[in-house]
Amino acid sequence: MIEAVDLTKSFGGSGSPPVLDGITLNIEAGEVFGYLGPNGAGKTTTIRVLLGLLRPTRGTVRVFGEIPAESDAIRSRIGVLMENSGLDERMSAYQNLEYHARLYGLRDPRAKIERLLGFVGLDDKRNEKVGTFSTGMRRKLGLARAIVHDPELLFLDEPSAGLDPEAQLMVRELLQELAEARKITVFINSHHLDEVQRLCSRIAVLHRGRIRANDTIAALRQGAAAPRLEVRLSDERDAARAAELLSAEAQTATIARTGATLTLSGNGSAAPEVIARLVHAGLRIEEVLRPAKSLEDVYFEIVRDEAVSA
Ligand SMILES: Nc1ncnc2c1ncn2[C@@H]1O[C@H](COP(=O)(O)OP(=O)(O)OP(=O)(O)O)[C@@H](O)[C@H]1O
Ligand SMILES: [Mg+2]
Repeated sequence: MIEAVDLTKSFGGSGSPPVLDGITLNIEAGEVFGYLGPNGAGKTTTIRVLLGLLRPTRGTVRVFGEIPAESDAIRSRIGVLMENSGLDERMSAYQNLEYHARLYGLRDPRAKIERLLGFVGLDDKRNEKVGTFSTGMRRKLGLARAIVHDPELLFLDEPSAGLDPEAQLMVRELLQELAEARKITVFINSHHLDEVQRLCSRIAVLHRGRIRANDTIAALRQGAAAPRLEVRLSDERDAARAAELLSAEAQTATIARTGATLTLSGNGSAAPEVIARLVHAGLRIEEVLRPAKSLEDVYFEIVRDEAVSA
């Protein structure tokens, strides 16, 4: 559904490094794809290229098999919610949706618009001008607008930025429904790792212009990085002593202590050796955990490693 091969994008100045540097991506129909990366990584730029708003400097992109900048036909199959939602401030919520629906040639969109306003919880604001809307209300309306023409593919640029927890949950449930019940393919830029983890079937992490990881979340979480071990001791004093003891052993990479709990990572965090060492020293262990790596761990491994090696 989306294919990018060696996508490279530079803005102006010949001396400046490309913002996107040889991006290769393949997104299949029905996927909910999460696109992550630090501020300025090039996420929004990637969406703009995929929408045909920017041309690649090198490489090719295809959406529905077409070159986006050259095809009007694919536009009606795509829905977009960018950070700046692009709604008309002077029009009401209803009028914004109606305008957009007519732009896409929907003949009698009334029933559809009513349903969508209900879907995003804006029934009672239908006749109010968007100029008076809060960030969250605009985002909800932007989402309704993005799907008013029943797109097969949805691009979302940070859909939950600036939303309160309840609105985030609503957006997430909405997207889940779109993906599961309507089988819409979703490309979502996000900094919200928890949301990404709940929504996305696959993610890519963009950093310094390149894709540093591209896999299912499960596969990335099981990936090669250093395991962690959490050891909870009976009290803070024991924990402090344990930290001291283990630090003295050269192969232990990092030890962090929070209250009575030690978190060990890297070499030297093999559970049997650590436990034996502490028990031998007469320290009382309450609990030993090997927590699964979170998406946040995966993300920071990628982004931090790169920052160090760059
Ligand atoms: N039209 C433009 N002209 C020049 N530089 C640009 C242009 N658009 C984006 N850039 C630069 O490209 C880089 C990537 O920007 P982009 O907006 O794609 O990042 P992002 O990953 O979406 O970041 P954020 O998480 O902050 O939204 C930035 O350094 C930005 O300054
Ligand atoms: Mg952005």
